[in-house]
Amino acid sequence: MNTEKFEKLLNEIGDFIPETKESIESFRIKFLGKKGVLTDLFAQMKDIEPALRKEFGQRVNEIKQHAEAKLETWRNKFDDATTVAPNIDLSLPAEPLRLGSAHPLTIVRQQIIDIFIRMGYTLSEGPEIEDDWHNFSALNFPPNHPARDMQDTFFISDTMALRTHTSSVQVRVMENKQPPIRTISPGRVYRNEAISARAHCFFHQVEGLYIDEGVSFADMKQTLLHFAQEMFGAQSNIRLRASYFPFTEPSAEMDVTCFICNGKGCNICKGSGWVEILGCGMVDPAVLTNCGIDAEKYTGFAFGMGIERITMLKYQIKDLRIFSENNVRFLQQFSGMN
Ligand code: DAH
Repeated sequence: MNTEKFEKLLNEIGDFIPETKESIESFRIKFLGKKGVLTDLFAQMKDIEPALRKEFGQRVNEIKQHAEAKLETWRNKFDDATTVAPNIDLSLPAEPLRLGSAHPLTIVRQQIIDIFIRMGYTLSEGPEIEDDWHNFSALNFPPNHPARDMQDTFFISDTMALRTHTSSVQVRVMENKQPPIRTISPGRVYRNEAISARAHCFFHQVEGLYIDEGVSFADMKQTLLHFAQEMFGAQSNIRLRASYFPFTEPSAEMDVTCFICNGKGCNICKGSGWVEILGCGMVDPAVLTNCGIDAEKYTGFAFGMGIERITMLKYQIKDLRIFSENNVRFLQQFSGMN
């Protein structure tokens, strides 16, 4: 009996590591196939001397089991996912995730908030469905004031309406807190207007309020100048034009130097070099009294600005309606800006 031959076969089977699916099949054919090594060995049995036949048979069986076990070990090696599509490069970086972008109004609102937070202002909010007192009466709107007219206000009942401005929040703040008060109130407001490129039935404002002892018009001017320079650049200047609001006295509208042409005159500022961005004024003592604040002791200023207007100026957006159209091509242009 050729022991050496058996050893060689056992070693060959033991060392077998397939490199391809085909090499597993070749292995099977070579050892266990119909014309394979083992068939051949079993066929030799009859020529072995009877005394040695039993041992020979055992050795051949041993080799057979060894080969079968090996085949079982490797049978599924090339069937898993890594080899189903061998052309996939697993080392490639993943596709970038498509992140959304903040809405331009959100970006600008946050910029405004950040500027005033840095000046020590707090944030306050109020309801969008507001009563007549907070939206109008406390703010000194006479009963027959045109802003109460059905044309401008979405009334819900005789006394409730969608707020027409965020000035209602300053009333709520003053009712609930004694000076010193320094707060801004961003929020959505509603007006019963025909929708066009320049007007919508809803838009956003930021209201500001500063009440303390000895607050002056000069404080307001300096605060708003600082705001304008932070928002539109250090070269910006402001000018205040006398105006009228029921809840401030004196009242003003504020222009900022046109940041497109730097004051030279262009089509954005209609050649004037200035663009209007907000209304402001010293809080009328009657409003302080309405809200439970001692008008003899305290003075303050308030201001209100439209976020859409500032965003349109900043990004030269010509039609306000696009802000609420969910136009992805428009919105994508603001990705990475927040
Ligand atoms: N509430 C005004 C509006 O809706 C804006 C405004 C003007 C707010 C002057 C103020 C202010 O606080 O002082 O147009």
